[in-house]
Amino acid sequence: MLKFGVMASGSGSNFKAILERIRSGEFQAQCLFLISNNGNCGAVGYAKDYGIPVFHISGKTHPDGAAYEAALLEVVDRFDVDLVVLAGYMKVLPSSFIKRLAGRILNIHPSLLPKYGGKGFYGMHVHEAVIAAGEQESGATVHLVGEEIDSGRILAQGRVPVLPTDTPESLAARVHEVEHQIYWKAIRDYGKCLKG
Ligand code: GAR
Repeated sequence: MLKFGVMASGSGSNFKAILERIRSGEFQAQCLFLISNNGNCGAVGYAKDYGIPVFHISGKTHPDGAAYEAALLEVVDRFDVDLVVLAGYMKVLPSSFIKRLAGRILNIHPSLLPKYGGKGFYGMHVHEAVIAAGEQESGATVHLVGEEIDSGRILAQGRVPVLPTDTPESLAARVHEVEHQIYWKAIRDYGKCLKG
């Protein structure tokens, strides 16, 4: 069975959507840990609800960059996971961590990459930029994490319309819905490829 860990910083709705599919039996996998750089975020609450161990690892708990990276790797190695799933993880990962886990870190991004990706494009900033540019369509992308921000092979995309009346918040809500539908399937399908 696929074993994965999650890294999240925020409200955790993607994390919750994945856990619900596991609980319903649609997605046969085990989520073994949550790493968060924010000890009080929604994702931590969901991990506690589901009995998943939480590791708070941040610039505050580990001010030294090397110690921060070692702490991340210690958790990943201890649980021996197949994949690390970023679900709204807002900190840039150390490049040595990405190299070490090459091809085994997945991310979800709230735009149709390669559009609106890269430095500064995260969370609500993406939706603000999409609306400001007058786009008629947006969506979400699941991709492998490469060393450049929001680079890496695209595994799945989901599209949504941008309505003339949209605010960044209403667009974010529509994109979240599609994220919740595509992420668990992309993890499942990629996991099958990895494990054969
Ligand atoms: C999601 O929309 C995700 O695509 C985005 O943060 C949100 C987290 O929501 N990720 C990024 O912007 C990464 N660059 P959630 O905490 O409710 O899952």
